[in-house]
Amino acid sequence: MIKSGIFSMLLMGVIAGSCTQPSVGVNYEVISPYAEKVDSVLKLMTLEEKIGQMNQYTSDLQATGPSRKDSTKLEQIRKGRVGSMLNVKGASNTRRFQEAAMESRLRIPLLFGLDVIHGMRTVYPIPLAEAASFNLKLMERTAAAAAKETASEGIHWTFAPMVDVTRDARWGRVMEGAGEDTWYGSRVAEARVRGFQGKSLADTATVLACAKHFAAYGACIGGRDYNTVDISRLTLHEVYLPPFRAAAEAGVATFMNAFNEVEGVPSTGNTHLVREVLKGDWSFNGFVVSDWNSVGEMVNHGLVPDLKGAAYKGVTAGCDMDMESRAYTSHLEELVKEGTVDEAYIDDAVRRILLKKFELGLFDDPFRYCNEQRQQKTVLSLELRQVAREAGAESIVLLKNDNGVLPLKEPEHIAVVGALTDSKEDMMGSWAIEGVREEAITVLQGIKNRYPNSVIAYADGYDLETNQLDLAGAKRVAAMSDIVIVGVGERAYQSGEARSMAHIDVPDSQQQLVKHLKEMGKKVIVLVMGGRPLIFNELEPYADAILMTWWLGTEAGNSIADVLSGDYNPSGKLPMTFPAAIGQVPIYYNYKNTGRPSQPGFMTYTCGYLDQDFRPAYPFGYGLSYTQFEISDPIPSQKEYKKGETVECRVAVKNTGKCAGKETVQLYIRDLVSSVTRPVKELRGFEQVTLKPGEEKEVVFQLHEKELGFYNGNLEYVVEPGEFELMVGNSSDHLKKTVILYN
Ligand code: GLC
Repeated sequence: MIKSGIFSMLLMGVIAGSCTQPSVGVNYEVISPYAEKVDSVLKLMTLEEKIGQMNQYTSDLQATGPSRKDSTKLEQIRKGRVGSMLNVKGASNTRRFQEAAMESRLRIPLLFGLDVIHGMRTVYPIPLAEAASFNLKLMERTAAAAAKETASEGIHWTFAPMVDVTRDARWGRVMEGAGEDTWYGSRVAEARVRGFQGKSLADTATVLACAKHFAAYGACIGGRDYNTVDISRLTLHEVYLPPFRAAAEAGVATFMNAFNEVEGVPSTGNTHLVREVLKGDWSFNGFVVSDWNSVGEMVNHGLVPDLKGAAYKGVTAGCDMDMESRAYTSHLEELVKEGTVDEAYIDDAVRRILLKKFELGLFDDPFRYCNEQRQQKTVLSLELRQVAREAGAESIVLLKNDNGVLPLKEPEHIAVVGALTDSKEDMMGSWAIEGVREEAITVLQGIKNRYPNSVIAYADGYDLETNQLDLAGAKRVAAMSDIVIVGVGERAYQSGEARSMAHIDVPDSQQQLVKHLKEMGKKVIVLVMGGRPLIFNELEPYADAILMTWWLGTEAGNSIADVLSGDYNPSGKLPMTFPAAIGQVPIYYNYKNTGRPSQPGFMTYTCGYLDQDFRPAYPFGYGLSYTQFEISDPIPSQKEYKKGETVECRVAVKNTGKCAGKETVQLYIRDLVSSVTRPVKELRGFEQVTLKPGEEKEVVFQLHEKELGFYNGNLEYVVEPGEFELMVGNSSDHLKKTVILYN
């Protein structure tokens, strides 16, 4: 249904002149200053040129999917058959392709897109690591820093933020997102969209952002990438869609379809998702790009018999641009000419795409982003490296610190053991799209930088490829020192796209190594590295301290040394539950109570396992500090609230330890009785408080009515009267509670 609005009237006028009114779900309520310019260009375009705008190819410089050789791309660009290129990097390369577009009849500029997931040349912590910082301003800063570097390389558009909620650590793409919580993932989505897009898309230090993968990709069965998603529509709206809606409401310029099906229909051809929800209910007026070949893959799904059918399904469902499948450029013209597809669908898609090109200023100057001098000045600047270093330190989560073994104050001898600690290529993590491994600071290098006066001895301890243990070498260096820092975990390539793992244990040889080193009577500090929650039960008892250091990017080693030395007091909190056993997965903190609630240990006839305590190794929101904090009971401003009133809850936080630090005070709610069951707790707020020893501050949480709501059985978003528990603490499993009545 086309909604009212001047632009829509204009659109209807244009369309009414040429054909009947399909219910394309087009919604141009936002009156764009470029609306008339877009229409003036559209009127000049042939059908073939319009379809060209909906066609996107990868460059052969780098493929991020199953690619095919095609030497005709430049020629197609010159003929106006291509609207966008991905994987073209550098001001000179983008200029070359843009020059080809300027040879086309209408000289419509190309859009250049790239997966800048956590940085361009300067690589920031992987997004799951950054989510552990619980610092939204920081995530906005790193997105803005990445945008500045990306735009300086002639690129207009990043395929980020990935906002897929996921509860399954077997899925390799957990590294790209913000973890398991819907509400927190929505706040992170907003922050990263703001960072990438800034205040104006016309600013050559900002880029279009892209909310992906729409939708529910993180619910793939078995954690197996690209696998079927089979969830209720209630769960879709309650758990998986909100971060996308938050991105849309934050003004994200584009969306990307997911590979997976939802309710039996692949997302790329899913009219309910894209036309009815995104472009209809949410009034999204940006454009939707398919994922790599996801239009064409609807044939594999068995939804359509051939590429022509895929083109039909994609364009009518609201996928505006076809990445790499060639379905649109091969079949849309025929589909329109034979009357199967109404040209209004094409016009809607092309308007959305042209609108972004105008907003980027590309019609004024197609080469405004292709400035090699600016690129030289911007790329890998000290300013950007400093942002990366700070982000890295804030992303680290301290999981254990027995007897205050950390921070390390200028020890005379330090043994560093573990091939991962000296592996430049692993520091960047997956999707380090232009990171240069030689530029990464390894853990070993970072420790050498921070402790120039200590004697630092290194040993691989295990083979990086085979994990074969080299105990003798490790023991030799450990013997020279009373402090041993051991790096363990998975390889960077073991998380990311098409990197699902059926086992997520730290390799046994690495865990044995920790045991042997402890048995030498050493103080053992374990750095766990990886792109997902890992399981390391065997080494845990032998570690005096454990830090989750993820993959932190270009400045990884310096960030880790900043935390080891106490230059930065760790403040990270887990954005994803760490399972104690793979059999617990999917596991998450906001589970339902069920009729036979889970109990610690084992009790028959309860929601548990015969062979495993149901509780995780480390819960969502958990993370220690070098100091200690005391958090008071939550004090609501009233015991009863009327519908529509804002709930206010005060908490006192005190630093009772010996050093300054930052605590993330978390607020959870529980709707005790409701028309559909609600989780035992749901994060609805957090506040970071930095305190000196002995200092105390009051935190005031405000809960607006909306934050108490949920989708009921009719998919209406409601707030039902009744009792709510309010819970506060520094981890989802360490909470003090009170009850209020909301009528
Ligand atoms: C990949 C990914 C997607 C990425 C796109 C372009 O297959 O699924 O996240 O943006 O292709 O590289």
